[in-house]
This record gives sequence, structure tokens and C-alpha cells, in this order.
Amino acid sequence: MAIKRTKITDVLSDSTLIGTTVCVKGWVRTRRGNKNVQFVALNDGSTIKNLQIVFDLGKFTDEQLKPITTGSSLCVVGSLVESQGKGQTCEVQAEELTIYGTADPETYPLQKKGHTLEFLREKAHLRPRTNTFGAVLRIRHTLAFAIHKFFNDRGFFYLNTPLITASDCEGAGAMFQVTTLDLNNLPRTEDGKVDYTQDFFGKQTSLTVSGQLEGELGATALGAIYTFGPTFRAENSNTPRHLSEFWMVEPEVAFNDITDNMDLAEDFIKFCVKYALENAKDDIEFLNQMYDKSLIERLNFVINNDFVRLPYTEGIKILEASGKKFEFPVSWGVDLQSEHERYLVEEHFKKPVILTDYPKEIKAFYMKLNDDGKTVRAMDVLFPTIGEIIGGSEREESYDKLLARINELNIPMKDMWWYLDTRRFGTVPHSGFGLGFERLVLFVTGMTNIRDVIPFPRTPNNAEF
Ligand code: 4AD
Ligand code: MG
Repeated sequence: MAIKRTKITDVLSDSTLIGTTVCVKGWVRTRRGNKNVQFVALNDGSTIKNLQIVFDLGKFTDEQLKPITTGSSLCVVGSLVESQGKGQTCEVQAEELTIYGTADPETYPLQKKGHTLEFLREKAHLRPRTNTFGAVLRIRHTLAFAIHKFFNDRGFFYLNTPLITASDCEGAGAMFQVTTLDLNNLPRTEDGKVDYTQDFFGKQTSLTVSGQLEGELGATALGAIYTFGPTFRAENSNTPRHLSEFWMVEPEVAFNDITDNMDLAEDFIKFCVKYALENAKDDIEFLNQMYDKSLIERLNFVINNDFVRLPYTEGIKILEASGKKFEFPVSWGVDLQSEHERYLVEEHFKKPVILTDYPKEIKAFYMKLNDDGKTVRAMDVLFPTIGEIIGGSEREESYDKLLARINELNIPMKDMWWYLDTRRFGTVPHSGFGLGFERLVLFVTGMTNIRDVIPFPRTPNNAEF
């Protein structure tokens, strides 16, 4: 009877398997050796660690082993024994070999030498097979799981908000249109505009920039919800921190004020970072060693220190007094750039900072107006190396004030009547925020380009794979 495959992570961690016959399957990382014995490092993606397979040339011919090159795929049955050599605790003494697929050394792009991250971005279809991307993708999974666990354990309900929408949540107009109209032959209204009544949904639609507005509908019914889904922004920002398609996590909680919201955000990030440190240890240690020797220290620092909480107005005073020459000059009223955020976090406080109470002009229409009439109850969480990792606020719960703001900004009522109904019928104080999932993955992996923490990045001029 054929024996069942064991994953390499289990082979390496279950000491009761030593002395038994195992079946392992995976992709070859390297082969080396001499005319008596050949050593193959096999990886199956279940762990960053390779399993050493030993081929005794008394049992296998050169001809049989010849197709075993980097990237080829194998099934090996053999006995698991304690290893004599350095670098591994156990190894498989091969008895049976099946080669599933070869990988021509002339054309397989991932040969053993270290490749640059830029090179690997061009090979995004194969880069998950490298140590670095294997580690990043396993950490990404672990963080996604931590997010669901955090909210589920606290009684939040996972709400799926639509990806196709007729409203612009952030009011920034950076939306991708969704249409089935023939772009070479557009139907026109009498005044020459595109006639969207003939489009698929009978109106103009786009991909969502945020699930928040629908999230508020959920929160004002279920009490506490979170979304976790793809978000699309057609901003032409070619930076190491922006994607055109990214994943956002948006909790929304009825009866929470801005302080509760800050507490939730801080607990949430700390939980996720701690969960990753405990559950993706090997991968984080690998990245710490390969890319950034202070990664683990930085992660522990975030877990163990309170975030600074500071009004925007105070933050501006600190920036003005810093004597630093910023590329974008600062004064009260400007939107903060990444250089300003990072100055506050990395140089001034040396801690994560939650900046609150921003000028209403630079924030979205739904934020609660403060008594000063100038600032809103916004809160951005600013992180070392990342800048803004979370953006959120207490929401304006007053129907009259919200409507006034909508009119002030000329937001069309036809898009907003349903949202305003939350304030017409049983309105309550409530708050929420959005965490950019890839920015969290950036922080936890220590990678420096957001294109390297999502399997298939979408950025301006790039939708390959
Ligand atoms: O600050 P933002 O625009 O906030 C919202 O969309 C709110 N509706 C959230 C809410 O209150 N429910 O985006 C939230 C977060 C940012 O802090 C950032 O981490 C991330 O989303 N983000 C991006 N991540 C990658 N690429 C982009 N282009 C991003 N734009 C925002
Ligand atoms: Mg923001």
C-alpha cells in the first residue's frame, strides 16, 4: 500500500516520526554531493525549512538522479533518521524516487544564487517559491488569521460589503469605473454626457475605495462589525507604500467614541503583531536575519509600549519647532506627508503615534465635527518605517450636521440617501477605522516595498500576472 504524504513541517517537528518510513513531496532547492552520495534540499512550502534527502549512489544511478535540478518536483519515500551532518536534525534516506516534473537549468529563473527583490518582482508568478516570498506569504496568512481571530473573540461580526458601488466613500474621486458600455461607441444624453442609464446597473458605478459606509449600516444594526476585503484606488501614486488594489480591514462599532476607537486600534495592532511573532516565528526570524536585523526588536517594541496620542495641532507645533527642512513645508492646515509622520514617530517620540483632531478640510465628510468648528474627530495611527497604517474617526451622528457637510462638499444626495437614513432612524454615536492590510504586512515582515508583500501587486502601469 502506498504510504501517505507527510508535510515537511510535520516531518521536522514530530520527533516520533524518527525511525519510520515517510513519504515527502516538494520542489528541489539544491543538489550537491559526490560520487557516493547526493544531498537534495527539498521544500514543500509548509515551512521555510528544507528537508535533506540523502541518495545513496549504491541504490540510485546517476541517470536516475540527473533530472533532479533546482526547481524540479519530487516524491521521495524513505526512512527518517537523525542526521549526522550540521544544519539539520533529521534527514530522509531515500528508497523510492518519483520525479513529477523537471525544471530546465537553462531557463528556470530561480537558480540558487540570491536574486534581488526587483528581479523577483518581474517573476512574480514564480517568486512564491523563494525563501523570502514563502516567508512573506506565510506571515501574510498568519496575520489574516489573527485579524479574524481578534474580532471573532471580541464578538464582532464579519460583514461583506460590496466591491461595486455607486458612492465615493472617501470623496477623493480616485475610483476605477465599472462599465459594460462600448467605450468606442458610448450612448449620449441630449446634453452630450455619457448616458449611464444604459449601462449595466442603470447608473454610473465604480470599484469601492472603502467598505465603511456600508460597514456603518452593519454596525448600527449588529453593534460591532468588521470588513476585510479588497479595496481599489486609482491614485497615480508610485510609492513604496501605495497599491492600486489593496486589502483593508474596517471595524465599525456602535456607541464607541474616539477614545474607545483608539483603544481598539492599539489593542488590535498589538494583538496581530504578537500573534505573528508567536505563530510565524521561523519566517520572521529568517527575515530578521536576511533583511533587517532590528525587525524583531521593533516588533517587540510596538507590543510593549503605549502609543503616543496627540492632537494634530500639537503635532504641527512639534514639526514647526523641529528646525528640519522638509520637502513639503508644514503649517497648520496642511495634510501631513510621510516625511512629517515619520519625523514624529521615528525622531521625535520614537514610538507609534495616534494623531487626532485634524482640520476638517483635509478629512472625509463623515467625520464628527469638534466644538471648535474647525477640526474633526479623526485619528490616524502612524508607525515607524510605514507612516500611516490606520485611518479612522468618530462619525458625525447628527443628521443636520452631516447633511450640511454633504451639501457644503456638493456630494450628490442621490448617492447618499441610504447612508443618511442611519442618522434619521435611531442614530447613535459610533466610530471605526481602516487598516491597510499590506501596510501591516510590511511592518511585520520588515519589507520596504509594498509590492513585495502582496502576491500579485497592482500599481500604475502594472497589472501583470
Ligand atoms: O485613511 P483611509 O483612506 O481611510 C478610509 O478609507 C476610511 N474609510 C477607513 C475607515 O474609517 N473605515 O485608508 C485606510 C488605510 C490607510 O491608513 C492605509 O493604511 C491604507 O488604508 N491605504 C492604502 N494601502 C495601500 N495602498 C493604498 N493606495 C492605500 N490607501 C490607503
Ligand atoms: Mg488616511
